[in-house]
Amino acid sequence: MSKILLITLLLASCLAAEYTKKVQLPSITFQMAEDDNFKAMQRNCQWCHSYGYILNQGKQSRKFWNKSVVKMREVYKAPITARDEKTVTDYLFKHYGNGELE
Ligand code: HEC
Repeated sequence: MSKILLITLLLASCLAAEYTKKVQLPSITFQMAEDDNFKAMQRNCQWCHSYGYILNQGKQSRKFWNKSVVKMREVYKAPITARDEKTVTDYLFKHYGNGELE
């Protein structure tokens, strides 16, 4: 009986615990290189996650970037056309590539 009373009191105390201070989350903008192919990036790569996911990979090979784009389509079902797959891969390799094709 006393256990039930204790649990009830504990649960009730949660109701009284209210956080009154205003919480402000930082807004981080990840700046990507802008060129003619950037539109394809905006069209395909910004509605599920921020560009931070891309920038945090560091400089990578063309194969790596192509595999990432294909993964987004095949695993996460992003509707990326074959044409945009190439444009986005070219864009990523041009600005965030390490010079290696493989
Ligand atoms: C349909 C939603 C969706 C779209 C659109 C999308 N992504 Fe992703 N992406 C994800 C998910 C889900 C993850 C994995 C998140 C995790 O593991 O925490 C991810 C992760 C990533 C990563 C981190 C490494 C990895 O492989 O997990 C990279 C790089 C990336 N995405 C690049 C891209 C690029 C480039 C595009 C545009 C061609 C794109 N994403 C579009 C859903 C998407």
